[in-house]
Amino acid sequence: MARTMSGIQPTGNLHLGNYLGALVNFVELQRQYESFFCVVDLHALTQRPDPALLRRNVREVAIGMLASGVDPERATLFVQSDVPQHAELGWVLTCLTPLGDLNRMTQFKDKSAQQPENINAGLFTYPILQTADIALYRAEVVPVGDDQDQHLELARETLRRFNFVYGDTFPEPKTVRSKAPRVIGLDGEAKMSKSKGNEIGLFETADETLQKLRGAKTDPARLRKSDLGHPEVCNIFALHGFFTGDQQREEIAAGCRSAQLGCVDCKKMLAQNLELVKGPIRERAAALREAPGKLDEILAAGAEKARTAAAATMELVRERTGLRHR
Ligand code: AMP
Ligand code: TRP
Repeated sequence: MARTMSGIQPTGNLHLGNYLGALVNFVELQRQYESFFCVVDLHALTQRPDPALLRRNVREVAIGMLASGVDPERATLFVQSDVPQHAELGWVLTCLTPLGDLNRMTQFKDKSAQQPENINAGLFTYPILQTADIALYRAEVVPVGDDQDQHLELARETLRRFNFVYGDTFPEPKTVRSKAPRVIGLDGEAKMSKSKGNEIGLFETADETLQKLRGAKTDPARLRKSDLGHPEVCNIFALHGFFTGDQQREEIAAGCRSAQLGCVDCKKMLAQNLELVKGPIRERAAALREAPGKLDEILAAGAEKARTAAAATMELVRERTGLRHR
């Protein structure tokens, strides 16, 4: 069976961008692929998180993946640092990656601007570790949002180089996009993200979400309820696209254009429909938090399976690169 692999950083609470851009595809792909889904705590170290907070976030992201429908019977769910081969293969690939390739990465520039006091080498080599994540499981498809396009392109180039230098070893990983590869935040401008504070959290209550939606940007040309609206440029209407049925959406669009429906009511409808998805996720997450032993078991079993697959790939890599000297 072909394999899929993806990772999420434990740098904060999961939000709708993670859910719509990545998680829904994890749940879909786990039916057709041998799946490896990973909480990438080594990547998170590039932000030098408080240790207690990192530990908490690792568990919360794992809980979020399970609550969203990742099934540990089908998919291998694990924590990156439980599998030492990620760092090991990362080094081998570091030695194959030209500095010039890393210099082009826009995420490095963005992150450096976000944390000017801590521009560490890990931020720079971050995409190589990501390439190792994918290559370790010889994954063919990688479900991610479109902010990862550049990293995936670098991964393909690096693995092509490995194959050229050492002989055919790794498949070229293809990106799989969901219907929402770029969810815009509540500011109506930037990509929804933890660092921008413009997100709807996956675990938020209905009240918290409605509160946040009240302040969210809509059609910039619609200042009063009596102004005619333009749903096609409204980010709230775009979100309806993922949570609201066709008929209600048509009614909303017509009401907005004719100024019969105000933004507040439109937002309330979105909050209600969101709750139909978020409510059950929140409940499943709460149940998982109540049973920390169960989460430990799932992650231990996942780590075991991931290590077995990783060890097999590293055998091959050691053989091909001459790292096996006996
Ligand atoms: P991160 O939280 O940065 O580790 O992202 C985890 C996954 O969510 C990656 O596949 C991202 O591409 C995806 N993702 C993050 N933010 C968004 C967004 N606003 N829209 C779509 N996908 C996103
Ligand atoms: N860099 C990804 C992000 O910020 C997370 C990630 C790490 C990842 N390793 C990966 C995604 C491997 C896909 C495959 O979202």
